[in-house]
Amino acid sequence: MHRVPAEIGAARRGARAGEPRWRAATAPAAARSGSAWAPSAVAILLASLLAAAPARADAPESDHAWVGVDKCGRCHKKDLLGNQVAAWRRGPHARAFETLRSEASRQIAQELGISSPPEEAPECLTCHASAFEVPAERIAYPLELEDGVQCESCHGPGRDYRKKTIMADRQRAIRHGLLEPDRDPDICLRCHNEASPTFDPTRYRLPDGTTTGFDFEQARERIRHPIPKEVKGRYLEVEKKLREEKRARGG
Ligand code: HEC
Ligand code: HEC
Ligand code: HEC
Ligand code: HEC
Repeated sequence: MHRVPAEIGAARRGARAGEPRWRAATAPAAARSGSAWAPSAVAILLASLLAAAPARADAPESDHAWVGVDKCGRCHKKDLLGNQVAAWRRGPHARAFETLRSEASRQIAQELGISSPPEEAPECLTCHASAFEVPAERIAYPLELEDGVQCESCHGPGRDYRKKTIMADRQRAIRHGLLEPDRDPDICLRCHNEASPTFDPTRYRLPDGTTTGFDFEQARERIRHPIPKEVKGRYLEVEKKLREEKRARGG
């Protein structure tokens, strides 16, 4: 396993004190609309992407620190809570880093004139890994590159909201850094935009028959990892009840 040292990013790309260490990969308006794309426009955008130093594309800069998927898994591997970790493992984001080792990735990198292997290229890692270039003081535990695009890339760095009592209260969790990818397409559009070499403007078909490179509603549906409705909003209560029942049975 490759470990991402805690100092990933801080030392990289020569960020100087007082300088912003992160620039928003603002999704161009066309990523949101259903407009068709002329191939030349895509080529121009790709060229401009490569000209600029790549910026990290996942959860925006914040005061909260990253903990990694294993910490979320302490609770979110439980079947009672819906085992979101297992669902994520089956989905596209868990393999985002592994993809960079594929022949397809090698070819893409070559065509773009990137000399380093894609799994080491900032031009790819910015969207295919988590917390790339985040300053060291914001990484609470070493992150694994292999975990690709993990929970916190969409839900926000979790050190301050991961306590059970905070998690169980959505508004409180939000105050402690939890983001809302269930209702905020901008979180996805940071990566799902034409800066992606494989961005296909006809990937998603809309109900009116037009196509678009990313449709939030359909994409969200494809990666769902729900909390079972029997426990949604009352997990602590259900867990407590089960514990009491077990104790009553002498277990
Ligand atoms: C100590 C246990 C625990 C840990 C660790 C934990 N969670 Fe949770 N999480 C919960 C519980 C309990 C709920 C609330 C379930 C309910 O009652 O609906 C929850 C709810 C959530 C929700 C739904 C919030 C809402 O109300 O819509 C998200 C998203 C979430 N967790 C993400 C994460 C992420 C990402 C991490 C890791 C950074 C994490 N959790 C770590 C226990 C935990
Ligand atoms: C702006 C974010 C972004 C950047 C930069 C990026 N990717 Fe991706 N990549 C994505 C997204 C999002 C997808 C999913 C398909 C899509 O919308 O392009 C993807 C999909 C892929 C796939 C297809 C996976 C499959 O099996 O369907 C390959 C291969 C790939 N990327 C390689 C690369 C390589 C190599 C680089 C660096 C030269 C790179 N990507 C840079 C965001 C990005
Ligand atoms: C690519 C972005 C992304 C990643 C990565 C991701 N999630 Fe989510 N998560 C979402 C979205 C979007 C929703 C809302 C889906 C919906 O509308 O049902 C969600 C919903 C949830 C919920 C609430 C489900 C409910 O029924 O209310 C929990 C809990 C959760 N995620 C935990 C996790 C954990 C734990 C991980 C890592 C193992 C993870 N997520 C990885 C985007 C993501
Ligand atoms: C940090 C970058 C990043 C973020 C944020 C992100 N994704 Fe992705 N997504 C990727 C990459 C990279 C892939 C390609 C993974 C692979 O196959 O290797 C991908 C693939 C996908 C795919 C499969 C390809 C496709 O377009 O059908 C879906 C669906 C998807 N993402 C949905 C979402 C949704 C919904 C959100 C927001 C809630 C989101 N993603 C946020 C990077 C990201």
